[in-house]
Amino acid sequence: MSKKHRKNSEYSKGPHLILIGFMGSGKTSIGRGLSYKLRRAFHDTDRMIEEKEGMSISEIFASKGEGAFRQMETEVLREIRDDRIGRIYSLGGGTPVRMENQPLIKKCGTVCYLRITAEEVYERLKGDTTRPLLQCDDPLSKIKELIAKRGPAYERCADIVVDTGSISRDQVMEAILEELRKLGWDIPVIEKTEKENEDTGDQRTEP
Ligand code: S3P
Repeated sequence: MSKKHRKNSEYSKGPHLILIGFMGSGKTSIGRGLSYKLRRAFHDTDRMIEEKEGMSISEIFASKGEGAFRQMETEVLREIRDDRIGRIYSLGGGTPVRMENQPLIKKCGTVCYLRITAEEVYERLKGDTTRPLLQCDDPLSKIKELIAKRGPAYERCADIVVDTGSISRDQVMEAILEELRKLGWDIPVIEKTEKENEDTGDQRTEP
């Protein structure tokens, strides 16, 4: 393989859509919705790790420590990179921070960063007990600190950036689909169900 060839294949993208972003940015919910719209299977890497380990993320943090969890994330990323069937994956909020994960994430496919402000995260996750990093006296300060640290890593990995805070879930999905179209993705046309037509006030029927 020539040097040029090797270089190209090194950076060639995998077939997946990868959702990244801070905790509470809506990766799982958006991933589920896009799974329907793109007719692709959706997987959440936190759930993949929980299934493998047979315990929750909080239990993994408590019994094995954050370092072990971060290693598990890297291993799951390698599996995703080697999976050649195009799917949608949402990654844990901390996954893009580890330097060695960044080229791996980019190799997995097209990366979409769901950007959100600290205040919006705080509102969405108030009372949540499943995120070990936010179980502290002042979660808002912690969220601000982490977002400031992580923002550059998210931006570095992203092909698409969508601000999620002030728009609806449907609008976020539409914005992502629009960006994917621009990148040459073939987006299936899906007829609205009767229920969706009612929800949007569109009462048109077939002629
Ligand atoms: C984490 C985010 C969580 C989960 C773990 C650590 C982080 O995933 O991986 O609690 O470091 O931001 P979500 O982003 O899906 O909540």
